[in-house]
Amino acid sequence: MHRKGINFVIKPGVTNHILISILHKKMSIINDINIAAKHIQEGNLVAFPTETVYGLGANALDPLAVAKIFEAKERPSFDPLIVHIGNLNQLEQLVKENDERIYKLAEKFWPGPLTIVLPKSDIIPDLVTSGLPTVGIRMPGNDIALDLIRTSNCPIAAPSANKFGRISPTTALHVKKQLPGVDYILDGGKTTVGIESTIIRLTDKGFQILRNGIITKEDLETIIPHDAKSKIESLSAPGMLKSHYSPRKKLLIADAKSSNTNLSKAGLISFSGELEKAYAKVIRVSDKKDLKDYAVNMFEAMHTFEDDNDIETIIAEPVEETGIGIAIMDRLRKAEFNWRED
Ligand code: TXA
Ligand code: MG
Repeated sequence: MHRKGINFVIKPGVTNHILISILHKKMSIINDINIAAKHIQEGNLVAFPTETVYGLGANALDPLAVAKIFEAKERPSFDPLIVHIGNLNQLEQLVKENDERIYKLAEKFWPGPLTIVLPKSDIIPDLVTSGLPTVGIRMPGNDIALDLIRTSNCPIAAPSANKFGRISPTTALHVKKQLPGVDYILDGGKTTVGIESTIIRLTDKGFQILRNGIITKEDLETIIPHDAKSKIESLSAPGMLKSHYSPRKKLLIADAKSSNTNLSKAGLISFSGELEKAYAKVIRVSDKKDLKDYAVNMFEAMHTFEDDNDIETIIAEPVEETGIGIAIMDRLRKAEFNWRED
């Protein structure tokens, strides 16, 4: 497809969809919820789509099953998992206090990309929460995910279905690439949000954001106040590492320094369309300069360039850090962290 010296814009999604349908035949990914639920009940792992990214799920109440998640991802045990629920009755069993603010938030944002960190009940194994007294809970906004949780009849602990520290998966193929040994993959096509859920915790004064996502501070403030005063101790935000979401090849955020790169071997993740001219390959993440599109297509663009032998360096266009731009820049900085030389 690529002709030397000519820029071309890969439409996000197109390449991978073709690949997925070819691979389906080979990998026999069959979307059978009953088989997937049986795997969960038997203590096996199932990768499944959520609206944010694909998750690698296990019965959250079965410590041996949860241990398999850490093993498959090569994830350190200090990094706690999010527990996914299918209805609010499950929530009551998993948390200690019934804070009415949870229900207000749930009414507005669930099912959806919001994780709330709450004091945990004793039925949740310590391995899920890395020994913390709290647990992160969310009800995913994806019908396949909800069907899986309800049919399995248990809450499902699930981190993103990638190897620890690597690029998050937004298609079933991305999961297969990184975790070929998973017992079962449910394929729901490309995810519709594209970046992980917003994570909050509740204090006496309101909410604090532990991880930014497409539900922004301003969205949350329509329901409860933001607590800008209380300190976030590092213990209450484990797993928030400087390096994360990292491609196997160099990724830099476009700036004065990144322009020293050999652009004939560089792929640009483009947002505004303004930087495209000099690059060997370009993936434009949005036709209409919409930050939501950047979120939806960002990880897929990283995967595409990571797999492209013509590309040595990935350059990502930065965006203004307001609203959803905060979550996008958080992912890009973490993806860049290990590659930055200055
Ligand atoms: O959108 C998402 O949240 C996706 C999908 C699969 O639901 N999941 C996801 O999980 O991003 P994961 O494991 O990649 O990120 C979970 C992060 C941890 O690294 C940690 O920072 C935070 O959630 N977390 C989980 N439990 C916590 C707790 N009890 N206290 C504070 N942070 C917690
Ligand atoms: Mg993750």
